[in-house]
Amino acid sequence: MIPWATRAVIFDLDGVLTDTAELHFQAWKRLADEEGLAFTREDNERLRGVSRHQSLEFLLQGRTVSEVEAEALMSRKNKYYQQMIRRLTPADLLPGVAPLLTELRQANLKIAIASASRNADEVIERLGIADQVDALGDGNSVERQRPAPDLLLHVARQLGVSPEQCVVVDDAAAGIEAALAAGMRVVGLGPASRVGNADIVLANLDGIHPEDILAMKSEK
Ligand code: BG6
Ligand code: MG
Repeated sequence: MIPWATRAVIFDLDGVLTDTAELHFQAWKRLADEEGLAFTREDNERLRGVSRHQSLEFLLQGRTVSEVEAEALMSRKNKYYQQMIRRLTPADLLPGVAPLLTELRQANLKIAIASASRNADEVIERLGIADQVDALGDGNSVERQRPAPDLLLHVARQLGVSPEQCVVVDDAAAGIEAALAAGMRVVGLGPASRVGNADIVLANLDGIHPEDILAMKSEK
């Protein structure tokens, strides 16, 4: 088997296939305002790919709360987030995503989604791409979240492919770290200051074709 033969592309969801990073921001912002906590759009950049619990810890800026209070705060934020994702439609796929998924399928590549979100299946359903996905790993699939490689390895196992046959696409620093730890090649979406450790850095997926991903070979 050719070691670099790519058989699967594993996409992160939030901030990669759709701009739910903005919706997460709005939901956290509403909670922060209600709780009198300072939280800016810039702060939100640090929460990309970060779990719900860790995001809350960041938001609280050292304020201590009991685990019961923490659960209540997280569930309030999640309620706000769920109200917003109810309005998602296929038009909310980011530019370039729909044609790329179609072309990957035509090139016989497997498509998977690995997301830290426990709302991933609903988002995927509303975006209308559920039937294009061969495997889904979400916030319920493994215990250790990114930067641990666990979720990506879990998804690769579901697909029946080895790590070196996978290319990961992620918009978060922790996601790039996780892919490298999993022994997978990785495309980072966003500024180099955030995803500069990726094998390839792209602004977004607009105009990107499978060959741009297939031809990639780690230079590290
Ligand atoms: C990640 C997002 O995909 O999922 C984070 O980038 C989010 O912002 C995390 O906190 C968990 O999502 P959820 O929907 O389970 O709160
Ligand atoms: Mg993301």
